Amino acid sequence: MVNQKTVFVCQECGYKAPKWLGRCPDCGSWNSFSEEIAEIKSSNKGDNASFLNMPQRIDHVSMQKELRHKTGLKEFDRVLGGGIVPGSLVLIGGDPGIGKSTLLLQVAQSVSDTGLKTLYISGEESIQQIKMRSQRLSIKPSEIYLLGATCLEHFIDAIKELDPKIIIIDSIQTMFTELLTSSPGSIGQVREVASKMMNMAKSSERAVFLIGHVTKDGAIAGPKVLEHLVDTVLYFEGDGSHAYRIIRSVKNRYGPTNEIGVFEMKDNGLEEVVNPSKVFLEGRSNDVSGSVVISCIEGSRPILVEMQALVCSSSLAMPRRTSIGVDPNRVSLLVAVLSRRGGINLSNNDIFINVAGGIKIIEPAIDLGIISTVASSFLNKPIPPDTVTFGEAGLSGEIRGVGQTELRLKEAKKLGFSRCVLSKKSIKTLKGKVDLELVGISSVADLLNVLF
Ligand code: TYD
Ligand code: MG
Repeated sequence: MVNQKTVFVCQECGYKAPKWLGRCPDCGSWNSFSEEIAEIKSSNKGDNASFLNMPQRIDHVSMQKELRHKTGLKEFDRVLGGGIVPGSLVLIGGDPGIGKSTLLLQVAQSVSDTGLKTLYISGEESIQQIKMRSQRLSIKPSEIYLLGATCLEHFIDAIKELDPKIIIIDSIQTMFTELLTSSPGSIGQVREVASKMMNMAKSSERAVFLIGHVTKDGAIAGPKVLEHLVDTVLYFEGDGSHAYRIIRSVKNRYGPTNEIGVFEMKDNGLEEVVNPSKVFLEGRSNDVSGSVVISCIEGSRPILVEMQALVCSSSLAMPRRTSIGVDPNRVSLLVAVLSRRGGINLSNNDIFINVAGGIKIIEPAIDLGIISTVASSFLNKPIPPDTVTFGEAGLSGEIRGVGQTELRLKEAKKLGFSRCVLSKKSIKTLKGKVDLELVGISSVADLLNVLF
């Protein structure tokens, strides 16, 4: 064991103390101390040659052609921005049991098929358990190496010896370095292990995947700090109660963010969903009130989803507003807009909103969807099943255009829709001809008129 000095540092103000304190004497915050190695500088120095060079003029910087390893799993390549970048550090977060280990074992299989050596380091399962899982996934013998280890110093040696191109660490919370005395999973440990792996990735052009646990409130456990350190952060969305698994990139230095990949969990592992719109619209019943199809863009791809609303009279003094898959604040805001600008009074009604299929939508183009399903459910009038809609609504009841209108319309056309209700401004931006009936609106009142 290396005998190195450690200090406890307040994460709020940077105050240093030789032992752990419950309350920072400097800034007064509670429970903010985490253990760190005293000479951080010397522990990081020299690992990464490219950071030690002299300043260079931007046009003199030589650039190699960007190389990416395709994994062969198209949906996964898409969220990464086109494949695995050598020297990148990727964090994958998600609830327990959602499929993180399964996905990365499948990724290991498909990259090692292309001849790249892959090392899977597990601190959670024994290598026999991983072997069992691999049989379930019918993984063929290939260049995948398994290692059961939790100590950083131990597996760094193994990495140097084996020289793999892809390294998977399952999970970052089980790993520790001997330099710190705090327990695995503490902020200090997680950050130290991650930054060592970062140096290893950058200096040796190896791609490293870190699996991270997600706490109840949705953050990757403890270390929000990790999100700043790594190149790419991917999250498994949803709670695992649906068969579909959605992976979203929330940060990506090598590609677009908010890109999603859709998989289905089957008996023999995760299977890619090639046409997500079709899947999300499956089982839609026509001619019922409180349902509408919206065309949204997630990352670079258009996806059609069904949004449902149920409005019923409430016996509560403060009626309920519950939403799954959309931001509840957005719903409250739009319900207020609908009351004031559309003349539909919902102050005595409970409102429930759900996006079918378990997907979460964050872009503002869903506003028209929320307004129209709520109105449809309240009035008990169905929206014609061949109609899609998208657009943003403002507080004064105006409807605004959103980007990539053509892409959204094309997807709607592809799935057999014949009519689209959208902002007048969006229609003006269209260049080519679209084979859909376009209904332009400019206010919430217009929307209610054309739909009901
Ligand atoms: P896992 O990858 O172990 O989750 P995580 O690493 O995120 O905790 O996934 C475990 C779940 O997936 C478990 O509930 C069983 C299910 N599963 C399948 O349905 N099919 C499969 O082929 C595999 C390997 C797992
Ligand atoms: Mg796991």
